[in-house]
Amino acid sequence: MNVVLLGAPGAGKGTQAAILLSQLGVVHVASGDLFRRALEKKTELGLLAKSYMEKGELVPDEVTINMVLERIRQQDCADGVLFDGFPRTLSQAEALDDKLAGEGRQIDSVVYIEVPAEELVKRLSGRWICRECQTPYHEQSSPPKEVGRCDICGGELYQRADDKEETVRERLKVFFSQTVPIVEYYDLQKKLLRVDGNRGIDEVGAEITGMLRAGSD
Ligand code: AP5
Ligand code: MG
Ligand code: ZN
Repeated sequence: MNVVLLGAPGAGKGTQAAILLSQLGVVHVASGDLFRRALEKKTELGLLAKSYMEKGELVPDEVTINMVLERIRQQDCADGVLFDGFPRTLSQAEALDDKLAGEGRQIDSVVYIEVPAEELVKRLSGRWICRECQTPYHEQSSPPKEVGRCDICGGELYQRADDKEETVRERLKVFFSQTVPIVEYYDLQKKLLRVDGNRGIDEVGAEITGMLRAGSD
């Protein structure tokens, strides 16, 4: 099964990915996580990505598409992928469809997590991320058991540089202008599943799991 998690910054893509992975038996491929990992290693790709990420802009399509297609060529992705944060432009969506079609595969479902803009800003300003496994936490809605430490791997928690309010506003603008058009793209393909993401984490997770199960029966 290949599934795309689509949603604005802060909608809960990473949070829901953590819930879904244990249930779907797929591999998590998050473009933002791949860029941040490249940046930690100070690779050329990481430094290039940083110059866009810190402004809240999208990294150019060609670079992003190459990175993700390279990742899904690896053997662990053969049985299915949960895409998070990719695709987010029409060119990326088309490149992914072409690549999968060439291998006799396809995107099965696209889960669009919808959350009002003001709630997104609140979520991102209280977010902490694990430096090792990238799991997101929130000061209020999902605090770690021990302050500053990841429940899952014990890694150090940090706040993302692009979660400053002005950068968040730019990321939201970019989402509405460049990513929302792919909602219609997948709707026309009859793959779109809309989910009200403005509810508790577990409630949203249960609805997504139920929808994907119903779709795969
Ligand atoms: P990326 O890392 O993909 O960031 P994003 O899309 O902006 O999304 P976030 O990771 O901020 O939000 P999320 O939906 O994962 O929310 P989360 O689960 O953490 O991209 C970063 C940058 O990389 C981009 O700006 C761009 O520069 C570049 N990039 C990446 N992909 C690219 C691409 N394809 N093309 C070009 N450039 C690309 O949740 C947020 C917070 O809310 C957490 O604190 C969480 O605990 C809390 N929370 C989650 N769900 C709930 C809930 N139901 N109720 C209450 N709180 C909740
Ligand atoms: Mg994320
Ligand atoms: Zn961790």
